[in-house]
Amino acid sequence: MTNATSNRPAIDRRLSRDRRLEHADDSPTNPSAAPRFADVLARRRFLKGALAAGAVAAAATALPLVQREARAAGASGFTFREIEAGVDAAHHVAEGYDADILIRWGDPVEADAPAFDPQNQTAAAQAKQFGYNNDYVGVAPLSEDRALLCVNHEYTNEELMFPGVGDQEDAGFKDMTADLVAIEQAAHGGSVLEIRRGAAGKWFVVQGSPYNRRITANTPMRVSGPAAGHDRLKTAADPAGTQVLGTINNCAGGITPWGTYLMAEENFHGYFWGEEALDAHPEAASLKRYGVPGQWYAWGKFDERFDIARHPNEPNRFGWVVEVDPKDPTSTPVKRTALGRFKHEGAESIVNRDGRVVLYMGDDQRFDYVYRFVTARAYDPANPVANRDLLDDGELSVARFDADGTVHWMPLVHGQGPLTAANGFQSQADVLIDARLAADLLGATPMDRPEDVQPNAATGKVYVMLTNNSKRTAKQVNAANPRPENGHGHIIEISAPYGDHAAASMTWEMLVMCGDPAGDVGAQWGPETTANGWFTDPDNAAVDPSGRLWISTDGNRPGSHSNRCDGLWALDTEGPARGSGRHFFRCPVGAELCGPVFTDDGETLFVAVQHPADAGVSKWAEFGRVSSFDDPATRWPDFQDGMPPRPSVVMITKQGGGPIG
Ligand code: FEO
Ligand code: CA
Ligand code: CA
Ligand code: CA
Repeated sequence: MTNATSNRPAIDRRLSRDRRLEHADDSPTNPSAAPRFADVLARRRFLKGALAAGAVAAAATALPLVQREARAAGASGFTFREIEAGVDAAHHVAEGYDADILIRWGDPVEADAPAFDPQNQTAAAQAKQFGYNNDYVGVAPLSEDRALLCVNHEYTNEELMFPGVGDQEDAGFKDMTADLVAIEQAAHGGSVLEIRRGAAGKWFVVQGSPYNRRITANTPMRVSGPAAGHDRLKTAADPAGTQVLGTINNCAGGITPWGTYLMAEENFHGYFWGEEALDAHPEAASLKRYGVPGQWYAWGKFDERFDIARHPNEPNRFGWVVEVDPKDPTSTPVKRTALGRFKHEGAESIVNRDGRVVLYMGDDQRFDYVYRFVTARAYDPANPVANRDLLDDGELSVARFDADGTVHWMPLVHGQGPLTAANGFQSQADVLIDARLAADLLGATPMDRPEDVQPNAATGKVYVMLTNNSKRTAKQVNAANPRPENGHGHIIEISAPYGDHAAASMTWEMLVMCGDPAGDVGAQWGPETTANGWFTDPDNAAVDPSGRLWISTDGNRPGSHSNRCDGLWALDTEGPARGSGRHFFRCPVGAELCGPVFTDDGETLFVAVQHPADAGVSKWAEFGRVSSFDDPATRWPDFQDGMPPRPSVVMITKQGGGPIG
């Protein structure tokens, strides 16, 4: 067995896998995260912010009457009554709403899927059943009451999935077998489900629909765009460098204007083994910048293609955005290399005023960057065939956030500026495969872990979720990341000039700085934010059909700096209530919330409850230990003896009908 640990963070046995994933990101791989010229200005801005935060905190605690009057006057764009922040084994939604389970890990997806049998799982069954750890949820409408739901399955928790298997990462994967790894691989990827709206406006999965499809870590995929067929993508199994097996760690994603499903490959490095081969690897600098090999899973022990010592180019075939046509269940998913290779959080898009399509993308690691892709050609709503390969041709750029409130989009184009052979970039393929290294040379702004970047078509604004960065030092703050040891995260609002999302520069400002406004953490919230309305660790965002913003979180934990479960908060962006949060949905203990998405009529909201019973449960007084399959902190959503907790998609509707919020 390979013993590879030195590239990995020290393991803390008290932590769940989820928390370790977070801590793993504590090891920044960006060496250019140095203090910059903007530091002085940034500090000034930070001081201003800190003063403002104090004022907000004072207002929040001393002037509850004012808040109540403001709300009575309708300053907020939301009218639902908020729920209490807190921790327990169940989920909670605002009064007057239903939150029903749509589909759970193990439920049948493909027509001949067997019933879920958690004690006797097989890879063959899992490959036809709903996968683990649902993350992104997208809706591709077929009609008003029929749609294709597209769901990512980001990662697996072996200690919660398999009976008798303890936490493996710190146990040398001793309980893992080839069969269990095969189940894990089948539990990754995504699901496409036909859903229909039935009685009381509630949706159900159409069992046996020909659209229903599982995509896994072994589904054949095509590679397209400028890096397709490049030598660095060739392997023994694929000498042409154009065919890859599978997609992994699919975090968030997007639905394109032409109705395809984008799956973002995030922490792909965690699946690779072979650290002993790292220093002699011809691309060692690139691998190190991407954190390969991370060895978070046993895959490299049982599946040789995840061992860089044997297949040195395999890591270059992950870290892309995958495009899937959900309307054609026989279609081959496509890895679109023009969008660059990094730890893609998501890929949300907007049709620009000139018809080109713009995608906004975060690279989720401490001190990594925000990217944008602009298609070369315009989207043609009348000619679907013309849109098929729009994502193969366009300009990728990376963001520099200046202290004067400007954001500059700097193109990653071979031959321009420092992106030349002299600096190791022989072609555009090199620029895309090593997008991080290219962005380093351009002087992009190192951010506090960019997660979802969400455009709002109603307003032309763009919202950047920056989840946290506990490693930023006081010397490393910049205007757009003003807090050292940022354990709370913040949200930046970008304004595209005259709605031009292809513009070379835009403006930005801070929308909220997360954390407890009554504490001493520099939090900044709008005036209507109550003790339940603030949150930390923003991760995914959704815009409802009225143009209002909703935020889901990953990092609110019992016993932590927020001492509350993750969930969904509405967040005002306009008017006097701007920056005010309001708590709408709460996860069961140990879960994070992903995938908020609304149907086009705003009457259904789908959310994805990921890793229930996992994160932070050892600090929950009612449980106080790490969860396992046999002893989980919650058996949500079934609450049946012997049934493990199951990541599930939840459907939220208003009782009696009508728009949510
Ligand atoms: Fe998979 Fe960045 O969250
Ligand atoms: Ca995420
Ligand atoms: Ca989103
Ligand atoms: Ca996250």
